[in-house]
Order: sequence, then C-alpha cells, then structure tokens
Amino acid sequence: MRSETEGVAGRPSAAGSPRSGPAHPPTGRLSQERATMTESFTGGPLASFDSAGREQLSVLMDHGLTPASRVVDLGCGALRAGRWLIPVLDRGHYCGVEPNEAMLARGLKDFIDPDIVKIKQPRFSTNDQFDLSEFGTRFTHMLMRSVWTHASKRQIESSLDSFLKWSTPDAVLLTSVLPMRTGWKPWRWRPDYNGQEWVGISHESDQPGMVAHRMRWIRSACSTRRLRVCRLRREPLNGQHWLRITQDRPS
Ligand SMILES: C[S@@+](CC[C@H](N)C(=O)[O-])C[C@H]1O[C@@H](n2cnc3c(N)ncnc32)[C@H](O)[C@@H]1O
Repeated sequence: MRSETEGVAGRPSAAGSPRSGPAHPPTGRLSQERATMTESFTGGPLASFDSAGREQLSVLMDHGLTPASRVVDLGCGALRAGRWLIPVLDRGHYCGVEPNEAMLARGLKDFIDPDIVKIKQPRFSTNDQFDLSEFGTRFTHMLMRSVWTHASKRQIESSLDSFLKWSTPDAVLLTSVLPMRTGWKPWRWRPDYNGQEWVGISHESDQPGMVAHRMRWIRSACSTRRLRVCRLRREPLNGQHWLRITQDRPS
C-alpha cells in the first residue's frame, strides 16, 4: 500500500527534497537544502510531493478557481497544496485547517516562502472538529485531498455539514477517495470502513494507514444533505479518485 497510495510517512531522499521537481513553487526562494524531508510526514509519498500539490491546484482551477476565490484546505498538512494555492489567491483568501501543529509548522518553515506568507496572509486553524467558524467567512472551494481516505464516517459527515454551513451556494467541495475494489484479486480489496477513529498519521497517531468507504454510503450521506456528488474523470493519482460535491439546487 505504501507505494501506491498517499497518507504514508515521508522518508529522506538522497537530495533531501522530492525527486519529481523543485522543492518550492517558482515564486519561492528557499533552497532545496532547507527543505530537507527527514522523518516528517508530508501528506503522501515524497516522490509525488510536488505532483500531488500541483494536481490540487489544477483540479481547483478546473473548478473555477480565481484569485478572488475563498479556499479552505481542510486537513492541509504540510501545505503540499497550500504552497501552490497561497501565492495565487488574494490576501487572506486561503484558510487551512490542520490539527497536527508540527506538520503545519514544518510546511510554513520549509515549503513556502516567508515573504509570500507575509504578503498573502493565509489563515490557519488547528481544530479537529471540522469546524470552520473561526474563519468567519463562506468559502467558494473546499479542498480535502487525502482526508476522507483516513476519516471515519462520522468525520466525513461532519465535513459535509461544515461544507453546507460555511460555503457559498455555488461552492464546490473536492475530495479524494480510495476505491474499495482495485481489480479482480480479492486480497487487494479494501473493506468499507466502519470504525469510529481516524486511521493514519495525525495529531493523535503516528501509525500510517488508509481506509475506503462504500460509494453507495457516500452518495447517501450527500443526498440526505441535498448535496450532489460525482466522480471526476481525471487520472487517479496515488490510487485516489477525485469526487466533486455541490449543492443540489432546485431547477
Ligand atoms: C494524508 S494528510 C493530507 C494532507 C493534505 N491534504 C495534503 O494533500 O498534503 C491528512 C491530514 O489530515 C489531518 N487531520 C487528521 N485529523 C483531522 C481532523 N479531525 N480535521 C482536519 N484534519 C485532520 C492530518 O493531521 C493530516 O495532516
């Protein structure tokens, strides 16, 4: 599972930085040496640290992202996406939620230019209740990459409730999921996760792990909230598929 999916602990690479590209977006001026990735958790495999970050910018752009958009990156980790989003968004329009304070600190220290942070004034919360009230704004985009792939059903429902409460009527929620079946070999199938706890590295656990949820359950959790869900036709990255969730507006 480690090689095909996200949500694993980062390992040091020979160069001390992701192998697939520069350590920082073009706007950054930090050296690759400073971005040493030791044992810290980077939100997924080191090899795709850059591509998984860029993919998140790309999927948001495909869904109407402009500098004026207001984005909440729920479970923003070490800013794998934030380091691409913060530079392009207007001042104060990027909000990140990350209960693992060390991981967030690592992202701010090593993965984004401090001058960009000074100019763009991203805002952060460390609460673990999927509570967006602290930001006092409604969001046009909610991003949850590699979060439902660790969350319990109760946590997924909390995030949907938060989306309903804190999003604009035409907002879009983009989240990633692992399919339960990835082929004909039953030993590769994942069960529908019905536990109560987060699975994987977080502020409360140092054990890697990932979970899958039955698509029928996800559809039902959305439809009871009058939300519409569809799977995006994008190439899965690290085994994860994108879902787009929007409010089901009366026609
Ligand atoms: C696999 S990482 C993905 C991070 C980021 N979305 C990315 O793509 O790099 C999952 C993140 O969710 C965070 N997390 C765990 N419990 C959470 C909660 N209750 N609310 C928000 N984030 C949580 C973890 O600490 C971790 O940083």
